[in-house]
Amino acid sequence: MKEHSLGELTLATLACQAGVAPGNEYENSPPIYLTSSFCFDNAAQAAARFAGTEPGNVYSRFTNPTVRSFEQRLAALEGGDACVATSSGMSAILTTVLALLASGDHVICSRSVFGTTVSLFTMLAKFGIETTFVGPTDNEAWARAFRPNTKMLFVETPSNPLTEISDIAALSALAHAAGALCVVDNCFCTPALQRPIALGADIVTHSATKYLDGQGRCVGGAIVAPAALIREKFFPFLRTAGPSMSPFNAWVFLKGLETLSLRMEGHSRSAARVAEFLAAHPKVGRVFYPGLVDHPQHALAASQQSAFGGIVSFEVAGGQSAAWRVIDRLQLFSITANLGDTRSIVTHPATTTHGRLAPAQRAQMGITDELIRLSVGLEGVEDLLRDLDHALAA
Ligand SMILES: Cc1ncc(COP(=O)(O)O)c(C=O)c1O
Repeated sequence: MKEHSLGELTLATLACQAGVAPGNEYENSPPIYLTSSFCFDNAAQAAARFAGTEPGNVYSRFTNPTVRSFEQRLAALEGGDACVATSSGMSAILTTVLALLASGDHVICSRSVFGTTVSLFTMLAKFGIETTFVGPTDNEAWARAFRPNTKMLFVETPSNPLTEISDIAALSALAHAAGALCVVDNCFCTPALQRPIALGADIVTHSATKYLDGQGRCVGGAIVAPAALIREKFFPFLRTAGPSMSPFNAWVFLKGLETLSLRMEGHSRSAARVAEFLAAHPKVGRVFYPGLVDHPQHALAASQQSAFGGIVSFEVAGGQSAAWRVIDRLQLFSITANLGDTRSIVTHPATTTHGRLAPAQRAQMGITDELIRLSVGLEGVEDLLRDLDHALAA
């Protein structure tokens, strides 16, 4: 696996050390500032802090040292200027849209994004923000979808659950030519495997709930963006609307980032073995994993990612009942809606993560009833392969 070099320090070093200054107690592990508000020396200082003329903490909805440490560390890893942490991945996307767009604006969004992201952009139509959904890999369709009022492109790559790869550099160039911003949900790769800003994107969103935590403990999100957007758009929105991350969760994510590179390397290594095993299995139909040489965007994935990640999807013949039978027979994979955990996870997208979409919408996205998504964890891969073999024998 290639290691990204960020200036003088590697990503692995920044993941352990960026964003944390030693405290008064000389602690080695960052403290959790679990306080809702901060005290002032006097009324004049309170007024200055509220007015923003004196830097410092005020109230944990918008200023908290633990949250700030997580924000600084993630911004360093993504190679962005700055970051705001949010209460969930969905609130990161909502904040991105509401802070930047207004009624009358238009968004072009990949059709193959997390189901709730599709629901969110669809819901925004009632506030006058319209969205056109296009295929994630069809750059010409993206180009055709532009309108004079297009302000934002939103893409998730690899996509969930079919691991389609969008060309971040090409979509960023299209966006910039039209004066729009390119936003990338970097949830599946994390900065350990893919750095969208270096490829030309303007903004990166995260569900920290997934690999940033990496151990399935807390819900959270983040936006990494240019300093001017953070200062003038995102921070004022966060302060006013309050979709903020709790300091406790920020501490969990901060510690999660310290092992991110190692975990992503392990997830990628095991997922590649699982994908190869499934591709050779007689009971398995199509397998979706960007690391397979016959994946339609394998070359693009190899050029914009440093490894292929931990998500593998596959189809079994026999529709929903066959898929459910395989899922129910797996013993080492938890049946749950999360992904990116050390524990392996199995999901039936058509009836869970993408269950709120209309059947026609799912069909257009290519999500069949026989599709199963695996989030390959960090258990022994031989044990996982044996478990899959046993489940597929049904
Ligand atoms: C790619 C992607 N983006 C965003 C989200 C939303 O994140 P959260 O559940 O933290 O709100 C998810 C959740 O599964 C996801 O998979």
